Amino acid sequence: MVAARGGERAAVPANVKMRRDFRDERDETRMSDERRTGANGAGSDAQGTSAGNAPTAFLGNLVEVPDSGPLCLTGRIRVEVAGEIVADTDDVALCRCGHSGNKPFCDGSHRRVGFDDPGVIQGGRLVPGGEEPAPDEPVLIVCAANGPLLVRGPLTVVAADGGRAQGTKGALCRCGASSTKPFCDGTHKDTGFQAT
Ligand code: FES
Repeated sequence: MVAARGGERAAVPANVKMRRDFRDERDETRMSDERRTGANGAGSDAQGTSAGNAPTAFLGNLVEVPDSGPLCLTGRIRVEVAGEIVADTDDVALCRCGHSGNKPFCDGSHRRVGFDDPGVIQGGRLVPGGEEPAPDEPVLIVCAANGPLLVRGPLTVVAADGGRAQGTKGALCRCGASSTKPFCDGTHKDTGFQAT
C-alpha cells in the first residue's frame, strides 16, 4: 500500500528515505548548479514538484550515485516490485549496498555495514532508446527478483565524480557486489543475493 507523501503525485511508503535525507553524502552544490542550468540536457518546460512542494523546473529523471550512499532518484519515478507499483514519486533513495531491511528502499543500513564505494561509473552503461523520450516521460524501475534494478525509461546517471550515463534501458546493481557499479554485472547470482 502506497501512502501519499509530499504532494499530489508523490507517493512512497511512509518509512522510506528520500534523496534529501542524504545531503551529507553528496555534493549538494554541484547538483543544485546542474538543476539550475539544466546541465543534463533534458527539457525544462514541464513543471515538476519538489520534495518541499515548491514548483520547480522538471529537468528529467536523474539518479545520483553518492560516495558510499544509496541511489538517489529524482524526477518522475515509479518503482515496481513483483508487478506492483510500490512508489510513484519525485524523490526516493534506493538501496545499492544490499543490506537494507526495507528493500528496495534505503534504510540507512549502508552506514552500519560500512558500505564503501566511490560512486563512480566503473563499467556498464544504459542503452539509448530508439526514439527521443518525451521531456516529462517517467522512468520505471523494475526490481528483479533477487536481482538488479531494471531501468525502463529515460534516466541520467550522475556519478559522484560528475561522470554520466544516459539511456532508457539498463540494470543498476542493488546487491553491492558488482564490479561495474553502479551497473549490474551479474555478481548477485554468485553471491546469492536475497532481495527479501
Ligand atoms: S544503500 Fe542505504 S541501506 Fe543500502
